[in-house]
Amino acid sequence: MTTPSLRDFAPQIDPVKGKTVLITGGTGSFGRKMVQTLLRDFDPKKIIILSRDELKQYEMRGELEEMFPADKLSRLRFFLGDVRDRNRLELAFRSVDIVIHAAALKQVPAAEYNPSECIATNISGAENVVAACLSNRVQRVVALSTDKACSPINLYGATKLASDKIFVAANNLSGDIGTRFCVVRYGNVVGSRGSVVPFFKRLLAQGAKELPITDDRMTRFWISLDQGVAFVLSCLELSQGGEIFVPKIPATLVTDLATAMAPKVKQTVVGIRPGEKLHEMMISADDSRSTFELDDRYVIEPEFAEYTRKSFAKVRGIKKVPEGFFYASDNNPERLDADGIKAMMKVYLE
Ligand SMILES: NC(=O)c1ccc[n+]([C@@H]2O[C@H](COP(=O)([O-])OP(=O)(O)OC[C@H]3O[C@@H](n4cnc5c(N)ncnc54)[C@H](OP(=O)(O)O)[C@@H]3O)[C@@H](O)[C@H]2O)c1
Repeated sequence: MTTPSLRDFAPQIDPVKGKTVLITGGTGSFGRKMVQTLLRDFDPKKIIILSRDELKQYEMRGELEEMFPADKLSRLRFFLGDVRDRNRLELAFRSVDIVIHAAALKQVPAAEYNPSECIATNISGAENVVAACLSNRVQRVVALSTDKACSPINLYGATKLASDKIFVAANNLSGDIGTRFCVVRYGNVVGSRGSVVPFFKRLLAQGAKELPITDDRMTRFWISLDQGVAFVLSCLELSQGGEIFVPKIPATLVTDLATAMAPKVKQTVVGIRPGEKLHEMMISADDSRSTFELDDRYVIEPEFAEYTRKSFAKVRGIKKVPEGFFYASDNNPERLDADGIKAMMKVYLE
């Protein structure tokens, strides 16, 4: 395949119209793009950005002041807070309708070296978000997950899996409050901090004569930030509670990525790094029993749902995937070659 299927995942309606939306980790790559998108294309009543570092908030405010007029900016609130601090979340979530939970520690080596820190943010933080959503009667919650949470081999992935379980199970706690929680799981964001695309770009700008490849069999999923944001918004619209939504996105060999970026530069295999998988997975064969396929996404439905929800099994035209199905970066039918990657990067990064 040479051209990527560039699904935009756009929601059919404005899922935030007139609503107060709070984004944990709102100053991160995802959060910044989400806030820009909401201000530009949607009509929320208020957007609250919750994160710890005042400098990132100050810089983000400055960035937005250059992009948007004052009437749009008047909808924004910057709230300092840590997801580890439940009392602070209780205050922040007052009168909030929708929570998008993006705050996380996500560097694999840092998580291995500082396990208790990663657990405190990604797992205890998830529990605190759930508790504050319930006590404040938040209507809808989407938590961001990662392909590393599927059959995890590193602590980052394991904490995100625990977080996914906490959000899925939270629907059982909501009773008459009616809060609906779901999870969005996707792969590498092209161009995100610390990822391979900016790393190769930096090396090439420095005049590198070769690019390091960890393993020439390695494959990865790719999604753009715009797609990630649209996907989250469309899942807000679709969720009945308890789903893990997985977008259909292309995958590539890392060697093809390097070839697309620098066809004439030599590639040197340097060996897989600790905590890395050869291929990433988003849906395991064991998940297949509860996975449904839509046109542009898969949905893993909750297996322990003690609340009322309409299963996708009841929606005409939507089918379960075959038993044993799994969705991994090496069995993805949407595998891009170097030309396809060039096309993808043009659309995703320019
Ligand atoms: N980037 C990817 O390739 C990728 C792929 C799949 C899934 N994801 C998931 O997408 C989400 C967002 O990722 P991202 O790329 O936007 O990450 P990011 O750029 O590293 O941003 C993380 C955000 O979380 C905040 N944060 C960290 N610890 C916090 C805490 N204890 N309390 C409150 N805020 C905290 C950070 O701000 P402060 O430091 O100021 O608090 C920052 O705003 C994460 O859940 C990640 O697991 C990312």
